[in-house]
Amino acid sequence: MADVMTGVKIKSERELEGLRRACRLTAATLEETAKILDEGLTTNEINRFAHEFTLQHGGIPAPLHYHGYPKSICTSVNDVICHGIPGKQMLKNGDIINIDITTILDGWHGDVSATFCIGTVSPAARALVETARECLQLGIAEVKPGARLGDIGAAIQQHAERNTFSVVRDYVGHGIGRGFHEDPQVPHYGSPGRGMRLEKGMTFTIEPMINEGTWQARVLGDGWTAVTADGALSAQFEHTVAVTENGCEVLTVFASKLQNSE
Ligand code: MF3
Ligand code: CO
Ligand code: CO
Repeated sequence: MADVMTGVKIKSERELEGLRRACRLTAATLEETAKILDEGLTTNEINRFAHEFTLQHGGIPAPLHYHGYPKSICTSVNDVICHGIPGKQMLKNGDIINIDITTILDGWHGDVSATFCIGTVSPAARALVETARECLQLGIAEVKPGARLGDIGAAIQQHAERNTFSVVRDYVGHGIGRGFHEDPQVPHYGSPGRGMRLEKGMTFTIEPMINEGTWQARVLGDGWTAVTADGALSAQFEHTVAVTENGCEVLTVFASKLQNSE
């Protein structure tokens, strides 16, 4: 049902079951893709693996042709914040790479991402990745009926800035369901007690992008790739969640611990 005032679609238990299935496949695709990551692999090869895995399991890669996006997943390496386009770039020792997978299954979207370390990364990169992971968990911990969107953003921003990092402003989490990007927008910064009130049946992503230096972004000439304005590192983690009676259900659950993600 669509709320007339906000455009937010509240999902029924039956609809939630469809979303859950899509999200499980999306998470499984990321889990399997994580296992092939290695030095020398190109981002195109990662794209191909995730694309094939998705099709083999009855899904459709949502990014492919979405507003003209040319590939099936996003691969964002080092200073790329998000929407990195898979290509000839080869992974090398010390890189960090976010892999963002969105899958449509029976009309429902799942959206998940994680940042992985290739070989041995610098202590600074490790700290950034770890903080970004914690930011997502702290954001998720705020989700329950009656809480506000600002509570999520504030928890994330506080943790990032306490660790000397910054939060990207230009890209936010989003409602999700039959649509890839639905209302509401979910900022990863903000003030406690401000913003839309959460209610049972809302489904959205939380996907903080945390930068080593400035939060400012710029988009490359390909019209997609968002990089840090200062060339410093950026890390991101994303889950799709549902507001439940008492709190939050993470829909993009992993069957086991992700490999290479530290
Ligand atoms: N998966 C991204 C998100 O988390 C969106 C990618 S849009 C694309 O919202 F077109 F770049 F694929
Ligand atoms: Co998303
Ligand atoms: Co995503």
